[in-house]
Amino acid sequence: MLYVIGLGLGDEKDITLRGLEAIKKCSKVYMEAYTSLLSFGITSDGLSTLEKFYGKPIIVADREMVEEKADNMLFEAQVSDVAFLVVGDPFGATTHSDLVVRAKKLGVDVKVVHNASVMNAIGVCGLQLYRYGETVSIPFFTDTWRPDSFYEKIKRNRTLGLHTLCLLDHFGLDIRVKEPTLESLCRGKKVYEPPRFMTINTAIEQLLEVEQNHMESVYNEDTTCVGMARIGCEDQVIVAGPMKQLLTIDFGPPLHCLVIVELNAKKKLQADERQAKKKIAGRTKELHPEKSMITEQELQWATYLPPGSATSRQHIK
Ligand SMILES: C[S@@+](CC[C@H](N)C(=O)[O-])C[C@H]1O[C@@H](n2cnc3c(N)ncnc32)[C@H](O)[C@@H]1O
Repeated sequence: MLYVIGLGLGDEKDITLRGLEAIKKCSKVYMEAYTSLLSFGITSDGLSTLEKFYGKPIIVADREMVEEKADNMLFEAQVSDVAFLVVGDPFGATTHSDLVVRAKKLGVDVKVVHNASVMNAIGVCGLQLYRYGETVSIPFFTDTWRPDSFYEKIKRNRTLGLHTLCLLDHFGLDIRVKEPTLESLCRGKKVYEPPRFMTINTAIEQLLEVEQNHMESVYNEDTTCVGMARIGCEDQVIVAGPMKQLLTIDFGPPLHCLVIVELNAKKKLQADERQAKKKIAGRTKELHPEKSMITEQELQWATYLPPGSATSRQHIK
């Protein structure tokens, strides 16, 4: 049996009872290392904390292993119970559907143990989860590679009156978590980049650069956003404000993400409703009165920061 187990967002104690019980009966425990592990502080110390807590040695499965050598893990799962640990939820943002499909093809039974994901934990900023459009990923720009496909998606979301969650690029923390450089891949030889993660500040700089290139007024430095760092951890930071203000804030250690808030959603929605009412008049009794996309209360909530978090409080304006 292969158990794919979500670890949640905070620390080792966020595992569910079901997940912990599954780990205890497994002969081998692997942990994916390439998505979100930074929130767990996976240095060699962090790893041993997890090992102590779960009472098992953990094999860190870097990207290469998950993508290229997963079959070994799956062969083991054919004859014994194996756990594959994922920070967040196994199907949150980065899905592990590939692994599950490969397991099924090899006749390996799979059980998934869910947990909190960044995709739902962002609800803590107060904006309703129903009001989000497509999530985008912001990759690190290099001198020669500055992809901006996220711009069209943000534009679409904002036209529809929806908020946009931006997930930010990151490379792993320790030597076992490695990302081959583009150059080295082109030469057919893998050389690994040092670990790094994208801050909210870098993401905003890149977003503004792309707006300057496209000039379609999708957003600008006055656009309200919510920057969130280390959601689910004791020292999480959540700050709402215009992009230019968030640029000045030090959000601290990883992981960071950013929400581009759609403040005009109410007007857009009302216009859409009027349009829809015209179209369907006579065919249905009445449309459900929709709540506004963002209320004053929601925005106020977005600037709320958990008590006891000095780092967080100093950012409130
Ligand atoms: C590729 S997603 C992986 C999501 C994970 N599997 C889950 O279910 O939460 C990783 C990105 O999500 C965002 N993220 C994940 N955990 C976060 C956290 N605790 N606080 C803020 N952002 C987070 C960061 O932008 C990070 O680079």
